[in-house]
Formats: sequence, structure tokens, C-alpha cells
Amino acid sequence: MTNKPYSESCDQNREFIQQVFEQYIDGRNTVLEIGSGTGQHAVYFSSQYADLLWQTSDLIENHQAIQAWIVDSGLDNVFSPIELDSRGDWPEQQYDILYSSNTVHIMSSDAVEQFFNKLPFCMHQNSVFLLYGPFNYDGRYTSESNARFDLWLKQRDPVSGIKNFEWLKDLGRQSGLECTEDFEMPANNRLLVWEKINS
Ligand SMILES: C[S@@+](CC[C@H](N)C(=O)[O-])C[C@H]1O[C@@H](n2cnc3c(N)ncnc32)[C@H](O)[C@@H]1O
Repeated sequence: MTNKPYSESCDQNREFIQQVFEQYIDGRNTVLEIGSGTGQHAVYFSSQYADLLWQTSDLIENHQAIQAWIVDSGLDNVFSPIELDSRGDWPEQQYDILYSSNTVHIMSSDAVEQFFNKLPFCMHQNSVFLLYGPFNYDGRYTSESNARFDLWLKQRDPVSGIKNFEWLKDLGRQSGLECTEDFEMPANNRLLVWEKINS
């Protein structure tokens, strides 16, 4: 067993995310995860659904951790990370499910804009994009703890911070994506589901 980086929140939120995830996997197998972090979600979901083919990705500095989780899992349906910075090159491939957890509040606005610009090229008409994390609504925090978290994020890195749902919705529309569901999650998080607008 490798001594791997560990995220407690991944263990705490995975079953709640799974309840929604499960509603979208029928007939869908291939997954691209953006910002896999430690790789815990990738390993957990791949262990739960043997038919999934889960491609991890992240900035290069997280690849070692993700790879360690994958190797220790012994699973053969979760794949070594590819380098994916939302501002750079994306895979020239389409996936059934695009998944990203706790990423857009870490990213700068520019990185999020590019995320929404490039994501649709990795989607086909029946793909879904599941985006988990904290969001603001009408410019307001949904809780005191999210307000404190946002302050902490900005002190750490002034370009990061909790993003507005309405802004994300606009970015999605500009890229041909509609937010079709907004699920409430524990600890003042949400799980947003995006689909391609029928053209
Ligand atoms: C708070 S961690 C979340 C990790 C994991 N998804 C989770 O839920 O624990 C944020 C992740 O976003 C990634 N990230 C930050 N900026 C990014 C960018 N521009 N493109 C892709 N990933 C990025 C980080 O490397 C990190 O893995």
C-alpha cells in the first residue's frame, strides 16, 4: 500500500454524489474526470460500477497521487491521469459522462470560461456533465460557512473563489449547454447537471 494523499471530503461526499450519479449512468460508460485531485472519487466510482471506463485527469502536479490510488485499487477500469489544464489542450475524444468535483471555486474566472468553452467538444448529444461543489445564487452565499470558505480561498489565492450559478449558466448557454438539474447536497454543496442543447 502506497502512502497516498488523502481527502476526507471525498470520503464524506462520495455516497451523496453517487445517488445522483446513478441516475445518469444507464447506457453511459465512458467518463472523463476533470481535476481528479487525489483520485479517490475515480477509484470509488470505478469500484462501484464495473462497466464504467473512467479517465482521470488533472494538472501534472497531482498525477503521482492519482496514480498511487489507481495502482493500489487494482482496478482495470480506471485509467492513469492525462494532463488536462482547462486553459490548455483537451482530449480529442468524446465521453458519455464528464465529471468534475470541487474544481471551479479553485479556478480563476478565465480558467472556468475556458473550461466551459472546451468541454462541449468532449461531449456528444447524449453526454452529461456533472459538476459538484459550492455555488452562489444571485450573488449571495448559501450559508455562513460558504462565506467563510470563500474568504479563505481568496486569501490563499485571490483569483479563486466560489462562482455564481447564474454566470455558469450563461457560460453554459454560450457553449450550447443547458443546466437541466440542480441537486442539493449536504454541507451547502450542489450537484449541477448539464446537457447539450438540442440543435
Ligand atoms: C479542491 S481540488 C478537488 C479535487 C477532487 N476533484 C476532489 O473532489 O477532491 C481542485 C482540483 O482542481 C484542479 N484544478 C485547478 N485548476 C485547474 C485547471 N485550470 N484545470 C484543471 N484542473 C484544475 C486542481 O489541480 C485540483 O485537483
